[in-house]
Amino acid sequence: MPHRTESDLVIRRSEASDAPLVRSFMEERWGGEPLVINCKLYHPSTLPGFLVFHKDELIGCLIYELQEAEREIIVFEIVDRHQGIGSRLLRQFIVEAAKEGCRRVHLMTTNDNLDALRFYQRRGFTLCGIRLGASAAAREIKPSLIETGDYGIPVRDEILLEMVLQEGDVDNGAAACLC
Ligand SMILES: CC(C)(COP(=O)(O)OP(=O)(O)OC[C@H]1O[C@@H](n2cnc3c(N)ncnc32)[C@H](O)[C@@H]1OP(=O)(O)O)[C@@H](O)C(=O)NCCC(=O)NCCS
Repeated sequence: MPHRTESDLVIRRSEASDAPLVRSFMEERWGGEPLVINCKLYHPSTLPGFLVFHKDELIGCLIYELQEAEREIIVFEIVDRHQGIGSRLLRQFIVEAAKEGCRRVHLMTTNDNLDALRFYQRRGFTLCGIRLGASAAAREIKPSLIETGDYGIPVRDEILLEMVLQEGDVDNGAAACLC
């Protein structure tokens, strides 16, 4: 795994012209668009987000959907993991969301994704729901979705996490809970 020097990383908001780049990233990493969450289809290349580049190479993204005063994370993916890049990207996303009046950030991950469950909970997210058996319904819409996930765990359920943001969270540094 190549080590990415922090000073060579650029995080910026995605633009409409990034759509082909995001689409090919989704092809490589997620089996292509659309994604299925709660039986709803999402096309990340058409949604707002933040992109991480290392020397012009796209190495990660956080794509979200705006839902009035809430934001749902649709894709959060870092190619070279465990180097602190995801924490940095998530912190930037949360701080900017709070500044822009967002009051809740939420997301879905599947029951096998123990690493993501750890990652989010260590950074201030809490569990807020579970859709038992939702993966079978998602597979009816997108048959290529895998049956067996991380650590050999059958992919069955959609687990929901949230972070509630209070007014002033940016000023009082509550986002600092994101280590
Ligand atoms: C979840 C994900 C986005 C996190 O991104 P990341 O860049 O790996 O995140 P970080 O490197 O900041 O943190 C991951 C872990 O590595 C550790 N870490 C950070 N820098 C490190 C370093 N230099 N050396 C060793 N470990 C390090 C962090 O402490 C963290 O561990 P923790 O969760 O126990 O606190 C990434 O793992 C990923 O793309 N996963 C696959 C897709 C996915 O599951 N997305 C989330 C579901 S929506």
